[in-house]
Amino acid sequence: MSLFDLTGKVAIITGSSRGIGRAIAEAYADAGAKVVISSRKQPACEEVADAINAKHGEERAVAIAASISDKAALEALVTETRQRLGQIDILVCNAASNPYYGPMAGISDEQFRKIFDNNVLANHWLVSMVAPEMIERKDGAIVIVSSIGGLIGSDVIGAYNVSKAADFQLVRNLAIEFGKHNVRVNAIAPGVIRTDFAKALWEDPKAEAALRRVTPLGRIGEPDEIAGAAVFLASKAGAYVTGQGIVVDGGTTIRGGL
Ligand SMILES: NC(=O)c1ccc[n+]([C@@H]2O[C@H](COP(=O)([O-])OP(=O)(O)OC[C@H]3O[C@@H](n4cnc5c(N)ncnc54)[C@H](OP(=O)(O)O)[C@@H]3O)[C@@H](O)[C@H]2O)c1
Repeated sequence: MSLFDLTGKVAIITGSSRGIGRAIAEAYADAGAKVVISSRKQPACEEVADAINAKHGEERAVAIAASISDKAALEALVTETRQRLGQIDILVCNAASNPYYGPMAGISDEQFRKIFDNNVLANHWLVSMVAPEMIERKDGAIVIVSSIGGLIGSDVIGAYNVSKAADFQLVRNLAIEFGKHNVRVNAIAPGVIRTDFAKALWEDPKAEAALRRVTPLGRIGEPDEIAGAAVFLASKAGAYVTGQGIVVDGGTTIRGGL
């Protein structure tokens, strides 16, 4: 059996109708898992689930919409997943928000709270809903998609970066709490990846050129280049890894701004 095999596993991936979450869901399905495609829009989730099922010629994906801002909707996501697929072996908290771009002095309390609610508290909610069954089975993998923003400062996305730094600490705390139950909790820290979320950072050719200059691999990343780390962390290959943040950024963070 391959170290990276996920046959028989069930994974929920939030924010999987496009971007990094979709790439992770596709890679999990390729590795044999059944995946729950989730975002705020049911038709977009169904489109992705249909494409995955068509590729594999069997039901590997189901679509269940839920906003990460809505605790009751997340409870319904977990309940429906159990009803349709039996159990939850892997949870990927990938969806996040950044409603503000500019210096910290200009952010409203509402925007700051939204960032923390969606990027930190919602992850805590989902983990609390799913971890008990993992703990009971003594088997589970939780992945939180953080960001290299949580490792560095910024003059335009400060509050978002504070929330992503909190995600690194969240996985460390949870890894300590759940370690004795063989439930592993890790983060992935992507660099700039070509998705709608980061459009402002790469759409303008000047901004993309600047990013290329500070990135040793000389380019920004593609969503499927994050998926391998997510498969590693969910599979037997990552069986002794917990509480870590894996940076997948083409080397951007080692440059030191030179
Ligand atoms: N792209 C980058 O450069 C980059 C770098 C570092 C970290 N990240 C992190 O990577 C993760 C994924 O980002 P991405 O770049 O793949 O973004 P994306 O392409 O914009 O996709 C975001 C996904 O999340 C869903 N979503 C947004 N708000 C949601 C909500 N309130 N509830 C449920 N689902 C919601 C979106 O669908 P709907 O809009 O239909 O709900 C979509 O499926 C985020 O945690 C982000 O912070 C991204």
